[in-house]
Amino acid sequence: VVRAPGRVNLIGEHTDYNDGFVLPAAIDLEIRIAYRPTEERRVVLTLVGSAETATIDLDEIAPRRGAWTDYVAGTARAMADAGLPVRGFRGVLASTVPVGSGLSSSAALELAAVWALAGPSGPAADPVTVARLAQRAENEYVGVQCGLMDQFASANGVRGAAILLDCRSLDHRPVPLPADLALVVAHTGTPRTLGSSEYNARRADCDRAVAAISVHEPTVRSLRDVDRAMLARCRASLEPVVFRRAEHVVNENARVLETESALLAGDYKAIGRLFAASHASLRDLFEVSSPELDALVDIAVKTTGVVASRMTGAGFGGCTVSLVRPDAVEPLRARIERDYPVRTGRAPRVWVVRPVEGAGFVSS
Ligand code: GLA
Repeated sequence: VVRAPGRVNLIGEHTDYNDGFVLPAAIDLEIRIAYRPTEERRVVLTLVGSAETATIDLDEIAPRRGAWTDYVAGTARAMADAGLPVRGFRGVLASTVPVGSGLSSSAALELAAVWALAGPSGPAADPVTVARLAQRAENEYVGVQCGLMDQFASANGVRGAAILLDCRSLDHRPVPLPADLALVVAHTGTPRTLGSSEYNARRADCDRAVAAISVHEPTVRSLRDVDRAMLARCRASLEPVVFRRAEHVVNENARVLETESALLAGDYKAIGRLFAASHASLRDLFEVSSPELDALVDIAVKTTGVVASRMTGAGFGGCTVSLVRPDAVEPLRARIERDYPVRTGRAPRVWVVRPVEGAGFVSS
């Protein structure tokens, strides 16, 4: 049995594909595949629940179908392209990661697929390489130009900690979560419709910012290289919307490093401020929040004992993440369940999650 976790990002949104910093944690909502390797050159995989069965021919991987099987097929192709052995198997898949919720069910599926396809001795590559391979499956086969964060978190998770990742150097270090804070994820009940086209559009905006800025600042290769002063100097040569996107990324990168320091110092006031600034920036400058996400954050920050709350993941629906004093978890849940449906007409879901280790075999 292999498992691969979903992830929640504490802070650093839309920074990964700009060579910046992120702070995700792998969480105990996960995908598991129970499987038996076969000598056949195909994967036969059944979903627990719907009992839907799909077959993927490993010697002739079909073009993408717009279904969950794309993540498995794309991963098999990326592994083969990288020269990693790929084995056939028969298996069943069960998941506790809600699909389309911003908790990276797709990265979890890619990582579970890597481990199942690799066969009994596991992938012949380190977790960072495995994460990049899964990202390539998503970029090239599925067609979403995502950064590395989700696959990285699912591959490299650390129990009890978030991971600070420098998406340029790929240097990373665990940042332990304070023992007196619970990690609460709340789902808006809205799917991430338009998610991938808007996502790719935001990415293109960032590329346009880099193109315009690098005319004046030739050392700039990505928004990672831009600081506030530089951005201010270039303002006139950027379209207003492109300037807003860049402003978000430049400030968000700084907020990730400040959040790491605040977590290590136990400065909860600062964490609250940083999460609030991140959410406002994603809403007003990057324009990827939604009325439902805003309502969940508003309810959370008005609840006593909630230290910090913001939208998490790509946006356009999905989930919020909150850091909460343990005795405030149930009051927060009750308040969301009471107020959120009245404000939005939608049904929320709330999970208390824990940071767990990255993908691998389930030890018996
Ligand atoms: C999605 C992508 C990630 C990242 C986030 C936004 O989860 O898959 O690579 O860009 O959105 O931070």
